Amino acid sequence: MFQFARGAYPATRMRRQRRHDWSRRLVSENQLTVNDLIWPVFVHEGESPQLVESLPGVERLDLDSLRRCAAQACELGIPAVAIFPATPANLKTEDAAEAYNPDNLVCRSVQAIKSEAGDQLGVICDVALDPYSSHGHDGLVCDDYVVNDESVEVLCKQSVVQANAGCDIIAPSDMMDGRIGAIRSALDASGHHNVQIMSYAAKYASAFYGPFRDAVGSSGNLAGGSKHTYQQDPGQSDEALHEVALDLQEGADCVMVKPGMPYLDIVGKVKSTFGVPTFAYQVSGEYAMLAAAAQAGWLDQEQTVLESLLAFKRAGADGILTYYAPLAAKLLNAN
Ligand code: PBG
Repeated sequence: MFQFARGAYPATRMRRQRRHDWSRRLVSENQLTVNDLIWPVFVHEGESPQLVESLPGVERLDLDSLRRCAAQACELGIPAVAIFPATPANLKTEDAAEAYNPDNLVCRSVQAIKSEAGDQLGVICDVALDPYSSHGHDGLVCDDYVVNDESVEVLCKQSVVQANAGCDIIAPSDMMDGRIGAIRSALDASGHHNVQIMSYAAKYASAFYGPFRDAVGSSGNLAGGSKHTYQQDPGQSDEALHEVALDLQEGADCVMVKPGMPYLDIVGKVKSTFGVPTFAYQVSGEYAMLAAAAQAGWLDQEQTVLESLLAFKRAGADGILTYYAPLAAKLLNAN
């Protein structure tokens, strides 16, 4: 057997503190709790829930199921849900006017959740035109280009109808320039001074959004088109900090990095540079990877889910949007 030379035994033994559970708990640096979870939910016009094929275990909910989901979120102690609509194809148009219809699916969903849960559950609404546009882009398209300032005007209208419906946090995910400031002014002008803005500040043009686009039915509309003229290239790092700085100046209350797991370096930099509430989105493709491997029996789902979410916390995230929110909450509450 290998022997240390006399006197050469390590004085510092990292394993001392790892030996017992009480000691590991005592020195633990980061914890995941149910307060860190935001649950993204898909809604549709159907009468019953419908499975999303590329997101095993995730459903598009009808409004009754959504009410039950809100009650479940409250029971589990999840602080907030984020709503994403699968808009019927016949309502998708080039100008995405359904986005600011005060009776659209999202507004009715907000009202349904609020009637069930009141102020016990925060409601977050995405702001972008892709669920409503016939071309699948987040803004308006003119001569094959997503135009900025005209898009921002529509996003402001969308934000105000969502706030009127009772939304607590407006979450612009469109990546147009100047939209945070414009939306803040539009909300204030319509009396919504206390509606928060969570900016998808550092959002990357990522292939990990694939299953989400299936879930809201925008992938067919986008038809191979890319979002590279407005979302950031995956290799960018300083640019993410620039984006966050601008959104904070314009009045964002908190910021988000998206996708999550492949971008934890960005989460860490944003948190250490700005010290503001920083959220990360474990996006649909990340969920699909874990779920598929678990289904195949290649990964232990419960352990990998909790480990992946704890990694967000270690990187500096204050909270995580994850389709695993209900599972994670159940596991955390059982501990
Ligand atoms: C809409 C939006 C997207 C996601 C959240 N909001 C898709 C996209 O930008 O194409 C992706 C979320 C996920 O993949 O889970 N702008």
